[in-house]
Formats: sequence, structure tokens, C-alpha cells
Amino acid sequence: MPQAQPYQPVLLRLLHGAAALLIILALITGFWVYNTYDQRWGNLPLPRLGDIQGIHGTIALTFLLLFPMFALYSFRIGYRRLVQTQSINQLARLGQPIWWISLQHCANTLMLLAATFSVITGRMMKEEWLPAGDVNRAWYIAHLMAWACLFVSLALHVLMGIKVGGTPLLLSMFNWKRRQSDTPRFWLQGFQKQHSDALLKSLEIIVIGGIGLAFVLPLFNLA
Ligand code: HEM
Ligand code: HEM
Repeated sequence: MPQAQPYQPVLLRLLHGAAALLIILALITGFWVYNTYDQRWGNLPLPRLGDIQGIHGTIALTFLLLFPMFALYSFRIGYRRLVQTQSINQLARLGQPIWWISLQHCANTLMLLAATFSVITGRMMKEEWLPAGDVNRAWYIAHLMAWACLFVSLALHVLMGIKVGGTPLLLSMFNWKRRQSDTPRFWLQGFQKQHSDALLKSLEIIVIGGIGLAFVLPLFNLA
């Protein structure tokens, strides 16, 4: 019997695909900024790009504008794939398939948390600091730590995806197939349903609140 192919809703594929692309570009251009002005923990022989900060800022800001939609989707519609209270109990069942699935849910959730940390710290960066050699600012160090967290989370996220569903699962997130019933009219079905899991609710408050902070914090000039 042929194995059932995993299917991802079109709205998830659109939001997740854009987020994945922008995060990968933000990681690369962010590293490029570090490589241009800092290099204290190593460097790569990359060419110098005059406006690398501007390029990074534009990509990162585009991600920030998309992120609330993706995060809301994940918490409201895709919440079954995020950490919930039951995941904690399942984590005790070491080595069983459910254990891996819970780990994957942890990795999915970690992506949202690491991206939130990145956008908050990134929004507090000032374009003047690094060209002036001002590389010990707390927000810059925090932004570098966010880069490392995001990098490790992304590696775990992809590895867990491979472990749990193999290449078919990874490809299902990026292919073009569409079920006839998957039309925009049904994309937001279930969006308003309130889930009652306390852990999931707390995570939602942290991520959505964090994204809100990323929008408003720069207005307070806390550098
Ligand atoms: C080594 C890694 C990184 C370095 C050195 C770095 C550096 C910077 C710098 C210098 C800025 C200010 C640019 C400007 O205002 O135009 C900035 C802004 C920003 N960064 Fe990063 N970044 C890194 C990684 C990341 C990553 C992985 C993300 C993930 C999304 C990110 C998100 C942001 C955001 C949201 C902004 C604010 C953009 C804006 O408001 O215009 N950064 N970053
Ligand atoms: C190369 C990049 C990426 C690949 C290959 C990838 C792959 C996947 C796969 C296969 C799933 C489905 C997992 C499952 O069934 O539980 C998934 C879900 C998810 N991914 Fe990614 N991902 C990538 C980048 C990202 C990025 C950058 C983020 C966050 C900013 C992210 C956040 C998530 C979240 C939150 C889910 C769960 C979605 C839901 O609630 O329905 N992923 N990803």
C-alpha cells in the first residue's frame, strides 16, 4: 500500500515558507554584518558590502511584519504541533515515537521563541554603533546571542522534522500541491476557537507580547 503523503494547509505553507526564507536570509545577512564590523569570535572571507546593515535591516523588518500572522496561525490553528502540557508528560517516555513527536513540538515552539528574541533585540540596535567600533553594547550582544539561539533552534527544528517525518514531511512544507477543499474561505477556520491549555496560552502571551514589544520598544529610546 502506498504511504499517505503528509499534507500541509496552503495558508501554513505560504506563511511558513516566507518565514523560513526570511529567517535564513536574516541569519546570513546578520552574520555578514558581524563579519564586517566585529569578527571577535572568528570570521569568513566574505566580500565587504557597503550597505550590509541596510540589507539586513530590510529583510529583518519584512520578517517582523510577517511574523505576527505566522505566530497567530501557529497558536490558533496549528497549535497541535506546538508544546502543550501533555508534551511534558510525553517527554518522560524516552525513546518511544511519542517522545520524538514531543521533542519536535518543542523544536517548533523554540523557533517561535528564538525568532521573538531576535526581533526584540534587533529592533533595539542602532545603525551607527558597529561602524563606530561600538561593539560592546548590551543590545548588540543580546542580538548576537539571539542569532546563536535561532541558528541552533533551526538546526534542531529541521533535524526533528527529518527524524519524525523524513524527507516527505520536509517537502510537504514546500510543495505546490493543493486539495480542492483548501480554499481561502476555509483558511481561517478554527481561528477564533480558544484553547484551554495553560502552557500553550502562556507561550502565546510571551510570543505575541514579545512581537508587540518589538514594535513599540524602539519608541522609548532605551539604548
Ligand atoms: C550575527 C547576527 C546579526 C547581527 C550582527 C545583526 C545586526 C543588526 C543590525 C546592525 C541591525 C540594525 C540595522 C538597521 O537598523 O538598519 C539589526 C536590525 C535588526 N535585526 Fe539583526 N542582526 C543579526 C541577526 C538577526 C537575525 C537572525 C534576525 C532574525 C529575524 C534579526 C532581526 C533583526 C530585526 C528585526 C532588526 C530591526 C530592523 C528594523 O527595525 O529596521 N537579526 N540587526
Ligand atoms: C529550512 C527551513 C525550515 C524547514 C525545512 C522547516 C520544516 C518544517 C516542517 C517539516 C514542519 C512540520 C512539522 C510538524 O509536522 O510538526 C514545520 C513546522 C513548523 N515550523 Fe518550520 N521549517 C523551517 C523553518 C522555520 C522557521 C524559520 C520557523 C519560524 C520562524 C519555523 C517554525 C515552524 C513552526 C512554528 C511550525 C509548526 C507550525 C504549526 O503550528 O502548524 N520553521 N517546519
